[in-house]
Amino acid sequence: METMLNGIRMHYEDEGAGPAVVLLHAFPLSGAMWRAQAAALRQRYRLIVPDLRGFGGSDAPPGSYTMDQQADDVVALLDQLGLEQVALCGLSMGGYIALALMRSHPARVRALALCDTRAGADSEEGRAGREANARLAEERGPAAIADKMIPSLVAPGAPQELRDELRALIVANSADGIAGALRGMAQRPDSGPGLAAITAPTLVLVGAEDTLTPPAEARALSAAIAGSRLVEIAGAGHLANMERPAEFTAVLRAFLDGVLA
Ligand code: MLT
Repeated sequence: METMLNGIRMHYEDEGAGPAVVLLHAFPLSGAMWRAQAAALRQRYRLIVPDLRGFGGSDAPPGSYTMDQQADDVVALLDQLGLEQVALCGLSMGGYIALALMRSHPARVRALALCDTRAGADSEEGRAGREANARLAEERGPAAIADKMIPSLVAPGAPQELRDELRALIVANSADGIAGALRGMAQRPDSGPGLAAITAPTLVLVGAEDTLTPPAEARALSAAIAGSRLVEIAGAGHLANMERPAEFTAVLRAFLDGVLA
């Protein structure tokens, strides 16, 4: 489906019936990365899966896409769909956006799942790396970003088939979208100080072999959010939901069933 919001055309999936669950994808992918989870969860929930600004079927305007802008896009979509409260699940960049939304609109979130993500801002070195990657995307296109990133998105033993799937998702995006998200992530503030104020039931999920947002980050996140549950997925790297879909989905579904039922 498609809608106009905040000056862009946003593509999203809206399937199933029941309490609403929103899945926010990682960089530099699209809502399609949630295929396995969406197929399972739409049996009992209304699944809303946007292609975030710059990705998939959504517009990729020039400029940087801050996490606050991306969170505003999600809130605008919820408003259009008449959804006052949802369960919100974000992986990596999707987690940064979920944390931005928790700062701006905490009452819209009934339950929160933070996957393979972190609360902290980028270091100076991290910001410089993002700018270098934004220029790489602009000069050599999304394929250069795929070559550079895929080895760190999955565990060393991940099958070639999954690597090929990731490559297809990444090269389907535009250089403007990739650069815009990189520059937006570089600007994100430290979400750490707000974590103690989160009262929504929260699940923190991480691939045991995630090297981009390692289990230590997940432990710190979980320790800072009162009552949150922490689960490590064995044998998974950063994109734990794609690498171990059955295990990831079972943990997410059990959490959602517990808080939304
Ligand atoms: C992601 O998976 O969304 C990115 O790796 C996040 C990041 O680069 O910080």
